[in-house]
Amino acid sequence: MFRRSIVLLSIAASAASAAFVPAIAVADEHIQRAVETRQGLLKVVGFYMGPIVGMAREQIPYDADRIKANAERIAELAPMIPDVFRSDTRGSDVPTEALDKIWDNSADFADKAATVAARAADLAAATANGKGATMQAFGAMGGACKACHDDYRQQE
Ligand code: HEC
Repeated sequence: MFRRSIVLLSIAASAASAAFVPAIAVADEHIQRAVETRQGLLKVVGFYMGPIVGMAREQIPYDADRIKANAERIAELAPMIPDVFRSDTRGSDVPTEALDKIWDNSADFADKAATVAARAADLAAATANGKGATMQAFGAMGGACKACHDDYRQQE
């Protein structure tokens, strides 16, 4: 009788954990995907930014058409940043550089993304006005990236 109730207890326990574990796993998978998606978007932003950084450092030849095309891409991508940060992933163990206060300051976070989009459009336009104007506009856009990173991205 004693033995039997132990067996029943352990069956009940494993049934309970079988129901519980997948629920946690689904939540983790959801968070993992949300983090990968937002990091993926920012990697794409970085992909378009990289060549312009290379030109600013004179590591690759200046190419106004490429800066214009890449800046236009960044202007399209930046408004997606608040979208991909909509999932509040605070408290998860998934590695991220996103600071918790993003989700306490969503409006400011979205404003900072909108500023990058506006500066990227300015940069695309500035490519018509020569290298000096272009590099000045690029500095302004980079400053707008940094403004968000300073507040909302973990510093290295
Ligand atoms: C509105 C806020 C915001 C703006 C604007 C912003 N970033 Fe970020 N960026 C972040 C946050 C937050 C992270 C960390 C994301 C994470 O680890 O989950 C990040 C991460 C990155 C990463 C690393 C991605 C990875 O995981 O490999 C790159 C590259 C990057 N940003 C480039 C840029 C560039 C370039 C700009 C401007 C054109 C920019 N960001 C504008 C908030 C922003």
